Amino acid sequence: MDQGLTDALAYGSGYLGQGKVADYIPALAGAPADHLGICVLTRDGEFHCRGHWDQMFTMQSISKALLLIYALLELGHEKVFSRVGVEPTGDSFNSIVKLETKGHHPLNPFINAGAIATMGLILEEGRTFVQFMEFLEGLARRPLTIDETVYRSEKETGDLNRSLAYFMKSDQVIQGDVEATLDAYFRMCSILVNTRDLARFGMILANDGQDPLTGEPILSAYYATLVKTLMVTCGMYDSSGEFAIKVGMPAKSGVGGGILALVQGKAGLGVYSPALDEKGNSLCGIKTLEYLSQALDLHYFKGNQ
Ligand code: DON
Repeated sequence: MDQGLTDALAYGSGYLGQGKVADYIPALAGAPADHLGICVLTRDGEFHCRGHWDQMFTMQSISKALLLIYALLELGHEKVFSRVGVEPTGDSFNSIVKLETKGHHPLNPFINAGAIATMGLILEEGRTFVQFMEFLEGLARRPLTIDETVYRSEKETGDLNRSLAYFMKSDQVIQGDVEATLDAYFRMCSILVNTRDLARFGMILANDGQDPLTGEPILSAYYATLVKTLMVTCGMYDSSGEFAIKVGMPAKSGVGGGILALVQGKAGLGVYSPALDEKGNSLCGIKTLEYLSQALDLHYFKGNQ
């Protein structure tokens, strides 16, 4: 593991300088494009970390996977999937196209429209953003904070998300207050984590919903499987197929440069490098995972898992 990780980081570092930091959220534009870090939590509770693993960054879309877990736990899958589907879109993460052409409900909870609709449902059902944050703090086993600058920046400039939300309101996919829903969504995207936090979240899923340290059941194996399956089919947006072939791990990316990934039964992984590829996924993060998957035989259809 340790040599593989060192080699993977060296391989991923070879791609620093390629890709572009997200600047459609102005406050993200200053992120350190030359940073790359990784952290792996193995089943025995050991963290293996390299590079800029402890750099804090905003979760962005990675939070959508955690919001889905929270929604499933609080409201049950029938209610959640009456609002959002489970199909990949093949479109960019912020596309509005299929809201009009595919029955108005967002196709899955990991595109922006799907996560905004899920947040709308949570609020309609009387839950609050603070409660969601407390749930996350329980998973992370530490207090979490929001990057207020990123939050305000996205709130000020998030007109595309605003239009997705109002479009859904017009179709009753969002039934509560649109601005309150967006505010909670922008806050959620601005939650600060490092790769160690992501590795922990990943290990809980890899461990079929049980806390790897205490054995405490956090979510059912069924819900863990459901979330992991959606991570495989939709977690890397319109490059989910290519990522499945090259890396073969359930994963969820964010435009802050983080990727949450996992190896079933074995490990949770967090990677961070803020320069993105054209699909909005961390370029060096993917390269690092690609190397690690091949070097350690971690693809879900390979090796002796
Ligand atoms: O809503 C947005 O556009 C961002 N807060 C999150 C998008 C994102 O992270 C997409 N990920 N690759």
